[in-house]
Amino acid sequence: MDALIAPSILAADYVNLEREIRRVASADWLHVDVMDNHFVPNLTIGPPVVEKVVQVSPIPVDAHLMIDDPERWAPGYAEAGCASVTFHAEASRDPRALARQLRDMGARAGLAVRPGTDIDPYLELLGDLDMVLLMTVEPGFGGQSFQDSVLPKVRRVRDAVSAAGLDVWVQVDGGVSERTIERAADAGANVFVAGTAVYGAEDAAERVTLLRSLAQG
Ligand code: DX5
Ligand code: ZN
Repeated sequence: MDALIAPSILAADYVNLEREIRRVASADWLHVDVMDNHFVPNLTIGPPVVEKVVQVSPIPVDAHLMIDDPERWAPGYAEAGCASVTFHAEASRDPRALARQLRDMGARAGLAVRPGTDIDPYLELLGDLDMVLLMTVEPGFGGQSFQDSVLPKVRRVRDAVSAAGLDVWVQVDGGVSERTIERAADAGANVFVAGTAVYGAEDAAERVTLLRSLAQG
């Protein structure tokens, strides 16, 4: 399975965003973290900035919404041109309806869960999803340590996707680096978000290549 690397601009220099986006042009997806200071205790960027990011990004934009009331806000990110829009199960009133709406708008629909959230109740939604995001740190901040305790959940989702014969991507986000990516890939992840590991590298493109080759085994 191809490994997709998605650098997170949370670790980029926001004052030089366009330059920072171009630094990771060889990656597969550009991961954009949206935080509302309610669902998580941190605040980042919203629709007007994401719309500009989509315009300058040479690679598809993967929006990760760490916000309350995704029913109200998520469609706006699809409208802004994000290739994928991922919202949190813990914040959604009706994840199936929202996923369907995002897909109807032409975006890939992703469902995310915190490290401590059980994924089992959501596996029945797989047919309406394009991606499941298993957070490997508590959402809100970059630079935290990868939680190995999430790996069995990654395996569980991958097995459920295979058993159902679906083409749903399994994404991990948080603490993914050259030291942890192989474990996530072994557990069945195929999309890897990396903030610090990519933007903290002197040569971001080289780091993307390294991560991709480690994940592909
Ligand atoms: C955390 C964000 C992540 C973050 C990952 O809430 O969802 O995307 O940028 O950063 P690193 O790779 O530094 O753990
Ligand atoms: Zn993220």
